[in-house]
Amino acid sequence: MHEVVEKILFSEDQLRERIKGLAAEITRDYKGRRPLMVAILKGSVLFFSDLIRELDFNLEIDFMSISSYGNGVKSSGEVKMIKDLDGKIEGKDVIIVEDIVDSGYTMKYLTQLLSARNPASIKICTLLDKPSRREAEISVDYKGFEVGNEFVVGYGLDYAGSYRNLPYIGILKRSVYEK
Ligand code: PRP
Repeated sequence: MHEVVEKILFSEDQLRERIKGLAAEITRDYKGRRPLMVAILKGSVLFFSDLIRELDFNLEIDFMSISSYGNGVKSSGEVKMIKDLDGKIEGKDVIIVEDIVDSGYTMKYLTQLLSARNPASIKICTLLDKPSRREAEISVDYKGFEVGNEFVVGYGLDYAGSYRNLPYIGILKRSVYEK
């Protein structure tokens, strides 16, 4: 275990198993369609690449980069777009893939922005959901796990840009961010 990690919350095996379950759910709903899977950079990249490999239907992918945290541990409520989608989404079934929904501001901003482009549908798939911190009203369609109010890192999730490459999700030691 990495020295900054207090405890492993979800091991590689647990992540793999849950992602298979999520993929089966999504496959049931989208079989015969050709949705556009949108990865929200950077946190969702590991989840996204593991998830789409388990999906048993034809799909397209695109990427968008949104930022709300800066380098802190708390959402600022300020959301900005760093990179837009490459392609058009009009008439498409869009599935937004996130690593974590926290305050919900990012997803609220994004669903409003993308809805205005007239897609056939928009759904949200997140690996982690932190409902205790919700401030913006949004509904998650597919979720991997619920987490409490701990600071989690690994499997795409960072603290100040680090620890995204840990293969598991762990709780960050308080001493790391309470300096
Ligand atoms: C994180 C995460 C979500 C967002 C969730 O992204 O990936 O996009 O914050 O927080 P919210 O529900 O409070 O809006 P971050 O801005 O840290 O960018 P990153 O994915 O590049 O690390």
